[in-house]
Amino acid sequence: MRTCRICDSALTEIMSFGDMPIANGFLTSLEEKEFLFPMTLHFCSQCYMVQLGETVPPEAMFNGNYQFVSSTSKAMADHFQGNAEEIQTRLKNVSDPFVVELGCNDGIMLKHIAQAGIRHLGIEPSANVAEMAKANGVNVSVQFFNKATAEKIKAEHGQADVICGSNVFCHIEDLNSVFEGIQVLLKDGGVLFFEDPYIYDIVKKSSFDQIYDEHVYYFSGLSVAELAKRHQLQLVDMAHQDVHGGSMRYYIQPGSQNTVTERVVEWIQKEEDIQLNDTRGYEKFKDSVNAICRDLKTMLEDIKQRGDKVIGYGATSKSTTLLNYAGIGHDLIDYISDNTPNKINKYTPGTHIPIKAYEEFQQDNARHVLLLAWNHKKEIFAKEKDFRASGGRFITFFPEVVIE
Ligand code: TYD
Repeated sequence: MRTCRICDSALTEIMSFGDMPIANGFLTSLEEKEFLFPMTLHFCSQCYMVQLGETVPPEAMFNGNYQFVSSTSKAMADHFQGNAEEIQTRLKNVSDPFVVELGCNDGIMLKHIAQAGIRHLGIEPSANVAEMAKANGVNVSVQFFNKATAEKIKAEHGQADVICGSNVFCHIEDLNSVFEGIQVLLKDGGVLFFEDPYIYDIVKKSSFDQIYDEHVYYFSGLSVAELAKRHQLQLVDMAHQDVHGGSMRYYIQPGSQNTVTERVVEWIQKEEDIQLNDTRGYEKFKDSVNAICRDLKTMLEDIKQRGDKVIGYGATSKSTTLLNYAGIGHDLIDYISDNTPNKINKYTPGTHIPIKAYEEFQQDNARHVLLLAWNHKKEIFAKEKDFRASGGRFITFFPEVVIE
């Protein structure tokens, strides 16, 4: 029996996805051997944490060649600049403040803090992206964050006024050790905030493609409040973010007597309304995921039977889950267009669909595009105005399969 990584209680399995490859494990050649792991999703009815069953060792994912570089999307760059501005506003009246970012990636957020002359430190376990952060003028330490590293940072720099992390907490299996570190490093009256894909959005839209090896946890206000409490911290605010298909930013402070905003109460109520505190909420989710996969595959089969092409748009990490679980391979998708140079001419993990440069798609007369990067729909629809105006169609699939 599996037990919860946070509170040690028995877990209930929500879904099994079969053997999955690593979401970012794009292949250079079809001869390469792929690492597969049995992917399952579980729920803890004691602390409400949704989590993967099996995980992949972090060294296998965040090594010197971690492929995800934050600064490739304009919308994300704007989003992180907004985060930096929020931190600066918060620190306006603090003398000599200190900001720590966990998983600072290429410095997309912290470079603004560095430019403002604020004392800061980025913690980044992937050496290649840490180098990019350094080139962006950011102070970086290449390591994993836990209680021991927090003690060292505290001894060297003092406690932090702000600790933050975007799309990083959901990746860290030993989250209790991170929170132990936060307890050490966060100043009284300081704030921790972090944001990750929000399980409420995932369940509401059935957007199960956020579930993959790198995401060990799928947070809610319910589960984060419990996690904070275990470490003498308190969830004090929540702010919904329109990125990654719906993320939540959680604000946490030391102690248990802080002012808690109305937003926390309202979001937790919404979570309870769709039963995120109960296995029944997740059973409905599973049924709806299976229906979407069936409908999508049938639609693609119909298009292919007519002899038409289907092009995928955006070789995202999350499409690894969608394509493998729904059984959509090179027989149904001719190729995937992507604008990330190091993904071009590679193949998708597990399904082996070739990835081609955007220019190839621009010269193609294909009429059907599967919008795998659906989280960038607004940006992509704006960019592909002419394609749609001339009769080209996007297939989208959350919360249901639609041609638009
Ligand atoms: P991303 O949003 O990071 O999703 P994930 O975390 O699931 O990988 O990935 C978006 C992908 O889509 C990335 O490979 C770049 C690609 N992309 C395009 O090819 N064209 C575009 O216009 C946009 C916005 C993204």
